[in-house]
Amino acid sequence: MILEQIATGGCQSYLVGCEDTSTAALIDPEISQIDHYLALAARDGLRIRYLIDTHTHADHFSATRQLARKLAVPVVMYRTSAAPFVDMRIGDGEMLMLGRLRLQVMHTPGHTSDSMCLQIEDSVFTGDTLLIGGTGRTDLPSGNPEALYDSLFQRLLKLDPSLRVFPAHDYKGRQSSTIGEEIASNPRLQKRDRAAFVDMMRELNLSMPTHVTEALRTNMSGGKSVAQLLAEAAARVPFISLAELKARVEAGDQDLIVLDVRERDAYESGHVPGARLLPRGQIELRVNQELPDPTRRILTCCELGQVSTLAAATLREMGFPHVVALDGGMKAWRAAAYPLNSGQNP
Ligand SMILES: [Fe+2]
Repeated sequence: MILEQIATGGCQSYLVGCEDTSTAALIDPEISQIDHYLALAARDGLRIRYLIDTHTHADHFSATRQLARKLAVPVVMYRTSAAPFVDMRIGDGEMLMLGRLRLQVMHTPGHTSDSMCLQIEDSVFTGDTLLIGGTGRTDLPSGNPEALYDSLFQRLLKLDPSLRVFPAHDYKGRQSSTIGEEIASNPRLQKRDRAAFVDMMRELNLSMPTHVTEALRTNMSGGKSVAQLLAEAAARVPFISLAELKARVEAGDQDLIVLDVRERDAYESGHVPGARLLPRGQIELRVNQELPDPTRRILTCCELGQVSTLAAATLREMGFPHVVALDGGMKAWRAAAYPLNSGQNP
């Protein structure tokens, strides 16, 4: 078995492959690591055949849907998963063939109702059901502490104690553990009485993970996150640095239209000398009057450099092939004490 473990912050994903057939599955991929997964698979001579989420993630952005489109292979989740883009719904006791390897599914509800653990040879990928020295939380949508107790004590912990445990999270840089080690030393598993375990889980009072709303929205619908929209726009647009723009402004470059896409009051309180105002929300409606010549060189700027990137991508999409965006925004421009004009649109 070929195994690659990829850590992104506290999230762990796994590329698991069969040496004999070069067939692989990717477990719990995260959106920012897409190039990393594809590069690892290429390096190891593996072909990814399945994209698997162990459950509906509330704390990271799943890459399964995007990779499924790129690779034309199925997204696999537990059969009751809410995500509409799942191609292959799988049930407890069922298996996927990974070349000579068998990937065995165990339904382990509790962290979420659609959580599953995946056993391959001497390893079990536990998702957020069992972590190293911890368990998944049960206070997010579809979580249930009683179900988690049953999944752990009636099922997962009854597996061979020597099985290696690979969780979907570890915040301390650890890579794996075993079932036996967890039974012996995982603090949460020391509450072996069902009611005591449930009380402990109910009293954890954990803070909400960052991006929980956005993660659930995108993972359950297949929609895009804000970071994804920005990254896609940034990939379609060239940029100019603050210093380069300052040099062009000071040299009196008449060729370049500086388009400030913030709202009017922000523009009037201080803008790049010579910049014109066209708020982001009005670009599509006013572009024909404001920018009649699509062959002009245009630079978009905003407060932080994100809205201007989106605006530049929109303009390129509309047929302005010479649009660039500012790398940074007016906040950094002011901090650098670069020249400012105030007042109305020229
Ligand atoms: Fe989770």
